[in-house]
Amino acid sequence: MPLKRALISASLLVFVVALATAGPLHAQCKVDWYFGIPCREVYEALVSQIKKWATIASCAMGGEKCLYKLESANVHFIAAKHTAPVTKHVDDLSFRLSSYDLYARCHVSALSVSETWYTVLDHGTNYCNLYNLMEGSGLTGVPGYKEVTSDFICTQRSSANCTVY
Ligand SMILES: *[C@@H]1O[C@H](CO)[C@@H](O)[C@H](O)[C@H]1NC(C)=O
Repeated sequence: MPLKRALISASLLVFVVALATAGPLHAQCKVDWYFGIPCREVYEALVSQIKKWATIASCAMGGEKCLYKLESANVHFIAAKHTAPVTKHVDDLSFRLSSYDLYARCHVSALSVSETWYTVLDHGTNYCNLYNLMEGSGLTGVPGYKEVTSDFICTQRSSANCTVY
């Protein structure tokens, strides 16, 4: 059965190559966050952090924690943009908030996408766009905090250094 074996190894090879190169086609990051506090509080923390980091001033010491711009906000959905202070690359951010456990807890489905389609590797910038807001607002320290993502749905998540990016 040499032909059959060759076919099997060939399809296995294609599968392995597909797996190795899987992940978003261009730089983007999707993260699910869970909090043991109501969405109203999560919403207020995120919106005030976006406003706090609106100008270049908060990047005076370097990093990317500045130039956020709120596009629209209600308790179910927040849209914003982040501009990289040096490269001026713009990423689109969105946060979908949904309550569970009778409004006691909040699930946030967050997405950051690079506007430039040719950005394939981003050093974790799209992840940090989202994570820096969570950390800066103190949401990473609230009861029940949990993050769910992976390199498959979040470009270079595992090697992201959000102090820099
Ligand atoms: C991230 O980068 C900063 C600044 O270069 C460095 O001090 C820090 O050790 C880095 N953190 C990790 C986890 O690599």
